[in-house]
Amino acid sequence: MSIVERLRAAGCVFAEDEAALLQEAADNPAHLEELVRQRIDGLPLEHVVGWALFCGQRVVVTRGVFVPRHRTELLVDLATELRPGVAVDLCCGSGAVGAVLQHRLPDATVYAADIDPAAVECARKNLTNVFEGDLFDALPSHLKGHIDVVVANVPYVPTDDIQFMPVEARDHEARVALDGGVDGLDAMRRVAAQAKHWLRPGGHLMSETSERQAPAALAAFTAAGLDARLVTSDDTTAVVGSA
Ligand SMILES: C[S@@+](CC[C@H](N)C(=O)[O-])C[C@H]1O[C@@H](n2cnc3c(N)ncnc32)[C@H](O)[C@@H]1O
Repeated sequence: MSIVERLRAAGCVFAEDEAALLQEAADNPAHLEELVRQRIDGLPLEHVVGWALFCGQRVVVTRGVFVPRHRTELLVDLATELRPGVAVDLCCGSGAVGAVLQHRLPDATVYAADIDPAAVECARKNLTNVFEGDLFDALPSHLKGHIDVVVANVPYVPTDDIQFMPVEARDHEARVALDGGVDGLDAMRRVAAQAKHWLRPGGHLMSETSERQAPAALAAFTAAGLDARLVTSDDTTAVVGSA
């Protein structure tokens, strides 16, 4: 059986494209066979080849780290429009958001932070100024009151819904990257509550949410004293708050 046929038999919808990417990633035939086997065993393609395409840019994604989703590109576009001088990619995972922002805005100073050491190690392959710790606590204190834009793509899946996620996410992305607590908004509420201490007056916080969670997300931003609104694209809802 050819590689394409094997991938198709394993349920890979874009088998031709995947086969080409696996061939590109492999150093030799034995390595290629190992990568094909990993993919057939269910490892996300991005973890097999070690990168994901995000906003047209290749971003390093190591095993166990959240694979950046195309729907999150809305947050990057919104942040770019604001042309921040100081931007923070909070809950950065691979650092995809921060890496693209830095690429689009070379004069900006971009910081990133995550609580998961594996994510921090991965993000350091994509950008500088990556810190490890709980939400804003990870950041240097001199940033307090000086941040123009915080992009926080926090975990927002309600705990009981994780079982319904695709197996690639459930089995290969860290639980801390997905689990947002009972209603999915635990991390978002905490970020919103702290945001005003870190943003400059008029600075912005933005997070991705779902259509179902959007009213509660908006309420969380408003309760934290932010002037908040929802922005939607074809497949995403973002909540954007101004300090
Ligand atoms: C949904 S993933 C998003 C990753 C990345 N921003 C992206 O869009 O690809 C959420 C990330 O939040 C991190 N995280 C969860 N709880 C956190 C906390 N209390 N402080 C900092 N990071 C946290 C996870 O480790 C994970 O990398």
